[in-house]
Amino acid sequence: MDRVAAVDVDALERDALAAIGGAGSADELDEARVRYLGRKSELKLALREVRERERGMALNALREKLEQAVAAREAELRRPREDPTFDPTLPGTPIPRGSLHPLTQARRRIEDIFVGMGYEIFDGREVDSVYYNFEALNTPEAHPSRDPQDTFYVNARAVLRTHTSPSQIRAMERHGPPVYVASLGRVYRRDTLDATHTPIFHQVEALAVDRDITLADLKGTMQEFATAVFGGQREVRMRTSYFPFTEPSVEFDLSCYLCDGAGCSVCKQSGWIEMGGAGQVDPNVLEEVGYDPAAWQGFAWGLGIDRIAFNLHGMPDLRLFWENDIRFLGQF
Ligand code: DAH
Repeated sequence: MDRVAAVDVDALERDALAAIGGAGSADELDEARVRYLGRKSELKLALREVRERERGMALNALREKLEQAVAAREAELRRPREDPTFDPTLPGTPIPRGSLHPLTQARRRIEDIFVGMGYEIFDGREVDSVYYNFEALNTPEAHPSRDPQDTFYVNARAVLRTHTSPSQIRAMERHGPPVYVASLGRVYRRDTLDATHTPIFHQVEALAVDRDITLADLKGTMQEFATAVFGGQREVRMRTSYFPFTEPSVEFDLSCYLCDGAGCSVCKQSGWIEMGGAGQVDPNVLEEVGYDPAAWQGFAWGLGIDRIAFNLHGMPDLRLFWENDIRFLGQF
């Protein structure tokens, strides 16, 4: 009987699968592989000599089956043994979730409100020139805010910006009128650190320049903004004030969100909370950027973001924003 005819395919399959499946280690598996699939194995020798098509196909099918069985057993042997003490039904270790800093949350909320009103968000510079921070904003050389006691000078011509108002100038230089921009970011002043003052804080500057802009537009926009930030139906009121870059200038108050104007500790019994400064853009400022004040008018405001977040969360002390105490930050 020739070698090919001598192969009992069924018996060979049975024996080989038993040997492969029963291999308890990599070495034993290798032994079984050599014995049944090696170059000199009964199967391989028969495969080399086979002439008849049907027989060849049967032998090839067996070879494939055995190769797969070897691969499967190999993977099984490689898998780590199950740990009898591991209980997959036990709850896992909780992974604490982070959150955004409350000032970042306030900033994003304010940005969303402006975008909703059709304003562009414009980034100014934290280090800016004396020209942008003061001069272009109609603030004369002798103005007290320019004193190095109040302002951080980087050198004779550059400062850490003391407000976000220089963004007004940069935005107007960038665009022609009309302009609707909001600019948010850090500002710096030489203030002594206490519960209500930090030498770094954040402002949101708003600027609208268009034809026939009046104080009524300013008040309506502020009303809309305050309601969107604080919720409910908020009242805003204007008091006359003075800023070099606005004429007329006003100071905004917001009806207390806590007592609705009745008087409480947050509003110091007045029913009102101070929001910040605003006004009609001074014609000198428009002229400085080459806009014709006879054709274009604008309003602007600058509010403290820290103060907004402070009020929003009923906080006792501004320094909490800067200490990064996880027990405080984890509440937001
Ligand atoms: N820049 C002023 C400040 O920091 C606030 C301010 C007042 C901004 C009036 C304005 C404005 O845009 O029109 O105290």
